[in-house]
Amino acid sequence: MAEIAKLELEGKVYEFPVITGSENEKAIDISNLRGETGYITLDPGFKNTGSTQSAITFLDGEKGILSYRGYSIESLAEKASFLEVSYLLVFGELPTKTQLTKFEKDIRSYSLVNEEMKDIIDGFPKTAHPMGILSSLTSALTAFNPKPVDINNETQVYNAVCKTLSKFLVLASWVHRKREGFPLNYYDNSKGYVENFLRMMFAIPTEEYKVNPVVVDALDKLLVLHADHEQNCSTSTVKIVGSSHAGLFASISAGVSALWGPLHGGANQAVIEMLEEIKADGGDVDKFILKAKDKDDPFRLMGFGHRVYKNFDPRATIIKKAADDVLKELGVKDPILDIAKKLEQVALNDEYFKARNLYPNVDFYSGIIYRALGIPTEMFTVMFAIGRLPGWISQWLEMRANKEPIGRPRQVYVGSTKREFVDISKR
Ligand code: SDX
Repeated sequence: MAEIAKLELEGKVYEFPVITGSENEKAIDISNLRGETGYITLDPGFKNTGSTQSAITFLDGEKGILSYRGYSIESLAEKASFLEVSYLLVFGELPTKTQLTKFEKDIRSYSLVNEEMKDIIDGFPKTAHPMGILSSLTSALTAFNPKPVDINNETQVYNAVCKTLSKFLVLASWVHRKREGFPLNYYDNSKGYVENFLRMMFAIPTEEYKVNPVVVDALDKLLVLHADHEQNCSTSTVKIVGSSHAGLFASISAGVSALWGPLHGGANQAVIEMLEEIKADGGDVDKFILKAKDKDDPFRLMGFGHRVYKNFDPRATIIKKAADDVLKELGVKDPILDIAKKLEQVALNDEYFKARNLYPNVDFYSGIIYRALGIPTEMFTVMFAIGRLPGWISQWLEMRANKEPIGRPRQVYVGSTKREFVDISKR
């Protein structure tokens, strides 16, 4: 028998269907609430509100579980490449060897970015934040690819996916090169996706660039761990922009801007800046823990806490181990890793953090690896965007394929009630 929820309002009982997901999550379907009762719900930050039914990513915040299309994040981080995971997220199945080979080849075929893009990049000062440049360049892709994607045409969708994954990666590297004053590099069609990114970022024309396989593996794993995370802030932004039938590039450009915020993807940069501040201040983590607990102090422990995870973020657990492994393999000693571990230990044993279920999240350790890989701090959130790109694409396509309505929340008005206009001579 279908489960129902009853709501009593002004003496009348209303019934609403209960939706049960494939992992037994429960939701009350209030699609007809206002029509039947005249009431709406109020839920700032959508902490209790589901925006969609999705088959892409499942996470259980209480148990610290994360899976993409049913595959655990632990298994994918260990066994799958970033492009395999990208294919899985977008098309729903892990690719066969033939499909993956074709996917990689088709991505390469779109790696040339219109040369006029360089004129746009040249318009930015070297001091511009990489996320602001990347958001602008992503939106500018529409100018060079104006034809909207027919989401009912499989070939057009496939080509748009390959084009987006390809050009976004090149532009992300160009952002860094512009800021460093280096010549812009091109994709090398004989190399892999992640290796190409490192080459485009760091190869200089005067020397042969030798890519370190340890760095490629570490970066590939980090991108897998960032690839999707259900209806987070930036994905919801990509989807609400796309729900007006704005194009994929315009939607992703908006997602880049949402990810930039320090409460979201910008936290990976803020974590390193925080750890550097603690180090410069003498490494007294207790002092910063007190600041984080002080309601009168705006300081927050960056990289800690999560809207959904009220347990360990499984990605943080994997990244923390990877940080140890990568720094050891690269022979890098980074004192802020020790500070991060000490900060984690103190916080996890502190009543304030325990009472609020505040644990390290994906951003707490990722910056330490990026740093060891030679990625500049201001590029950390760009790395998050490169990882999240297949998630944004897959969620955008699912929203369009399901013909979801334009996103348009309601509100409760609390402003002035009706009043007559007063002529300026009488004000
Ligand atoms: C990401 O949604 C996703 O899935 C995001 C993400 C993804 O993959 O897309 O996982 C990526 O964005 C990870 C989060 C990165 N952000 C940070 O690390 C910034 C620091 N963290 C916080 O600002 C905060 O924890 C949020 C924004 C992540 C979550 O905030 P919520 O869910 O709105 O919780 P809240 O702000 O209401 O906090 C609840 C309580 C408050 O205290 P009380 O008012 O109850 O006394 O916990 C406190 C907060 O003050 N708190 C913190 C804290 N985080 C929450 N106190 C100190 N330091 C912190 N980091």
